[in-house]
Amino acid sequence: MRIQLLDLQKQYEEIKKETDEAVINVVSSGAYIMGPNVKSFESEFAQYIGVKHAISVGNGTDALVIALKAMGIGQGDEVITTAYTFFATAEAISFVGAIPVFVDVCLDTYNIDATKIEEKITSKTKAIMPVHIFGLCADMDEINKIAKKHNLYVIEDACQAAGAVYKGKRAGALCDIACFSFFPTKNLGCAGDGGMITTYNDELAVICKALRVHGSGEMGQRAYNLLNNISAEVEEDTASDNTVYNAKKYYNYLIGHNSRLDEIQAAMLRIKLKKLDEYISKRRKNAVFYTEKLKNSGKYVTPIEEANNLHAYHQYILQSEHRETIITELEKKGIGTGIYYPIPLHLQKCYNSLGYKAGDLPNAEYLSHRTFAIPVFPELSKDEADYIVKALLEE
Ligand SMILES: Cc1ncc(COP(=O)(O)O)c(C=O)c1O
Repeated sequence: MRIQLLDLQKQYEEIKKETDEAVINVVSSGAYIMGPNVKSFESEFAQYIGVKHAISVGNGTDALVIALKAMGIGQGDEVITTAYTFFATAEAISFVGAIPVFVDVCLDTYNIDATKIEEKITSKTKAIMPVHIFGLCADMDEINKIAKKHNLYVIEDACQAAGAVYKGKRAGALCDIACFSFFPTKNLGCAGDGGMITTYNDELAVICKALRVHGSGEMGQRAYNLLNNISAEVEEDTASDNTVYNAKKYYNYLIGHNSRLDEIQAAMLRIKLKKLDEYISKRRKNAVFYTEKLKNSGKYVTPIEEANNLHAYHQYILQSEHRETIITELEKKGIGTGIYYPIPLHLQKCYNSLGYKAGDLPNAEYLSHRTFAIPVFPELSKDEADYIVKALLEE
């Protein structure tokens, strides 16, 4: 049997008819940039998450960069984040000129240890950026409490957590601003790159909308006025054509980006968003099955389920001190695995200049030698899950 860590073709097969139709409709419409699918997807996503604004962008990394810039975070500022995440979390902080300040994680949730945040706050700290790693929300109540006490922004890196629910609210609706990735492997993935920023805050939404398109047009002007305390009326942009010609595009108010969600990706994401809860419940069913079979085996540490914190299982992570042998044996049996993450961010070469050393964040370092992911994607069959469990118990 051959089981990939994630089988994207299986998911496509299930929605092939609608997806093919939607893609052809976009291609034949000639409306390729900021078209009707992008607009509809933004409002459908905002409604799904439960926020006022959803601003689509080119990818999750840009979402983080634009969110940070919208908050005025830049040169010399410090942003507190986790060391155990995908690189883009810290990269976005560095990209705007700020300094990522790494905090260790909890050994059971893999999320930032909120009890270790306050000791890292300095006069330069501007924000806390928790990551809902592997699809489980960070300790947001505690993080928001600390942020309020110290007057800091909170930015959720929800790139892995579309569909997760924390105390009745969805990931992406838990603080000032949140960022999502629609990279194909994500719980809600497109056929290329895509991202989204969500917020309740009207002003941040305007600035993000301006920054994603060169700081130009109506939103550029609105953002400029906001940032400069100008109360003048701004004319609404009613242009129907953003693909061939929109006269307002050539008036620039901020230095921004070109980071738009593609119309074809938006069309596909609209189809998948309707199925997201079903995808999550299938992921969860697979996860519950694995945990049930493996937790008492004495061979693996299985993921924890927290009350009032619905895990979206972007990844199903096991821990073992024999990780390398196990993944080699699984590979021989045709089972795909992945190591998330082999090097915690404070020890990445590119961050040498920040001065961290081995031993500084012991939990992240310990986990980086033990964790690995097994297939948990929604379309995994019962036979495949049985086969994986059997292989794991034989190791
Ligand atoms: C935690 C986290 N942050 C940020 C990103 C960046 O997203 P993207 O690849 O869409 O730029 C990803 C995913 O790749 C991620 O997993």
